[in-house]
Amino acid sequence: MDETALDSILEVQEAVEAPDDFVANAVVSNPAAQRASAAEDPEAIWEAAANELEWFRPWDTVFEGDPPDFSWFPGAQCNIVYNAIERHLLTWRRHKVALIWEGENGDHQAFTFAELAREVNLLASALRARGIGKGDRITLYMGVSPQLAIAMLASAKIGAIHSVVFGGFSADALRDRIQDAKAKALITADGAYYRGNVVPLKPAANAAADECPTLECVVVYQRCGVEVEMVDGRDIWWHDFVAGASTEAGTEVMEANDPLYILYTSGTTGRPKGIQHRHGGYMVGTYLTTKWVFDLKDTDLYWCVADMGWVTGHSYVVYGPLLNGATVFMAEGAPDYPDMGRWWRTIERYGINILYATPTAIRMFMRTGEEWPNRFDLSSLRLLGTVGEPINPEAWRWYDRVIGKGRCPIVDTWWQTETGSILITSLPAEPQKPGSAGLPFPGIEADVVDKQGNPCAPGEGGWLVIRRPWPSMLATIYGDHDRYVETYWTAVPGCYASGDAAVRDTDGYIRVLGRMDDVLNVAGHRLGTMEIESALVAHNAVAEAAVIGVADDLKGQVPKAFVILSAGMNASDTLSNELRDHVARTIGKIARPDSIEFVETLPKTRSGKIMRRLLKAKEAGQDIGDTSTLDPMSFADEEE
Ligand code: WTA
Repeated sequence: MDETALDSILEVQEAVEAPDDFVANAVVSNPAAQRASAAEDPEAIWEAAANELEWFRPWDTVFEGDPPDFSWFPGAQCNIVYNAIERHLLTWRRHKVALIWEGENGDHQAFTFAELAREVNLLASALRARGIGKGDRITLYMGVSPQLAIAMLASAKIGAIHSVVFGGFSADALRDRIQDAKAKALITADGAYYRGNVVPLKPAANAAADECPTLECVVVYQRCGVEVEMVDGRDIWWHDFVAGASTEAGTEVMEANDPLYILYTSGTTGRPKGIQHRHGGYMVGTYLTTKWVFDLKDTDLYWCVADMGWVTGHSYVVYGPLLNGATVFMAEGAPDYPDMGRWWRTIERYGINILYATPTAIRMFMRTGEEWPNRFDLSSLRLLGTVGEPINPEAWRWYDRVIGKGRCPIVDTWWQTETGSILITSLPAEPQKPGSAGLPFPGIEADVVDKQGNPCAPGEGGWLVIRRPWPSMLATIYGDHDRYVETYWTAVPGCYASGDAAVRDTDGYIRVLGRMDDVLNVAGHRLGTMEIESALVAHNAVAEAAVIGVADDLKGQVPKAFVILSAGMNASDTLSNELRDHVARTIGKIARPDSIEFVETLPKTRSGKIMRRLLKAKEAGQDIGDTSTLDPMSFADEEE
């Protein structure tokens, strides 16, 4: 980045107060007091949370070291699975429901904590019997299912390191990740249901496994009952694997800084990075953020719609909620299948209280109209969340009005695979500003700075950095510590560089403007993508928009917008002009798109993020393959 700050042009939104009765009953009902004490002693907040969990041996000190190398709770011994499962077995939660799952085809499974413990122990014992244990890597390649959670927990219980690979990834992507981790075992399934079809997982697993000599066994869960090819001596059905295994499995005693899992993320360029998290700090971070941000109570049914192949599925489907003894809901399948009512019907049917979703999905539902959600009783909802991309104020207000009926606080949570847990979000009892993630979580020191690390003034955009380490932060990039140092610790002196652009207002609320790599430079003005996209989506003809910078002789770059129209709208030059004028009117002439291309779809990552990188490559004349076949909810392999 050069030294100029970013221009921030979007109007600051009015704060929306949380309902009084919500505040009165909130887990954190006095956020100001929490913030004050965290400001005084940031480590105390994490230590207090750690003290609510069970450890086999206490820590010598809370934090030690200097970034990029540091440790949390050094000297302590623990196992995250002991806290996610075993400790609840000693309480009334033993027979509380831990997981409820609905398959796309109507299948249904539920597990109490005692039942979950039994399933995890069976798999853990079977893995141990195959000589797999502490420090070994296990790759998991499955659809959203309790068995994927069980496989993660069984791996962690025996001290193995799991690496979940999103079930929508190709054989090549899977192979690269197994090879990078030198995994000893692969756990997969015959398939998963998606939009009425069986997505076959085993053929890709076979193609990958054939090229991975480190694999000693491939365990296959039978989800769909489709015909699969099993390789003699290597492959075994899950039900055969656990048959006769012990229902008792000792929990491996781990050092707090021993690795828990690797999760590959490709970021914007290059080879996927194996982001490595550890037992102790990750446990404390996900435990506390889940409890405070989602206001989690024992009476709640909590649904995070994320696929478990990405970090949200790790931290906020599996670990964070189970550490809190919560009841977690999971669903297989797409949000728009068999119809646009899938989510709303599910909320009504199960009485879901907390919904954690993505801006992409919310915009898709907005586009198809509020008749769908309005057909169902959503009165059980009491808190809504969003993650993954900036949410534009219009989508925020729609989510608030149509889904939350104005009764539910919305937490806009900013974090990354690398951060392990939520770092920026106002707590639900605090005022929220649509379009802003809000204040940093207590104990987190976030800043918006220029290239030299000097804080930017309010309203001035810059790099989003974190000034002091937090417990759930990544330990390293698996097998490539230099790349870890280079990627996160060199851009801004002394700070963790998130790679995002952001702006802070006079109340300290942080609005994320997009990825730094996507920033446009129009005649010397540096603009984040979020603001122009947000202005476009505010127009009722527009359902979704993505903006990139295109080279221009005169201005350096000019904005180009890719627009998906709302249902019933037709593309025309008149509309194109109107939209360009609309952007100029609402946020300024400098942001007026030079051209608009109307498209049916936008290329997206597995987690629903728009891949502006692909749009830029296409604009530059590179062949990016046929993305026209991608529907709005489908995903491209990120490393392509
Ligand atoms: C973006 C997902 C704005 C951001 C948990 C970040 C967001 C990247 C938000 C990490 C949000 C995530 N507002 N932008 N609430 N949440 N992002 O690793 O650019 O899949 O750097 O982790 O998503 O994506 P990742």
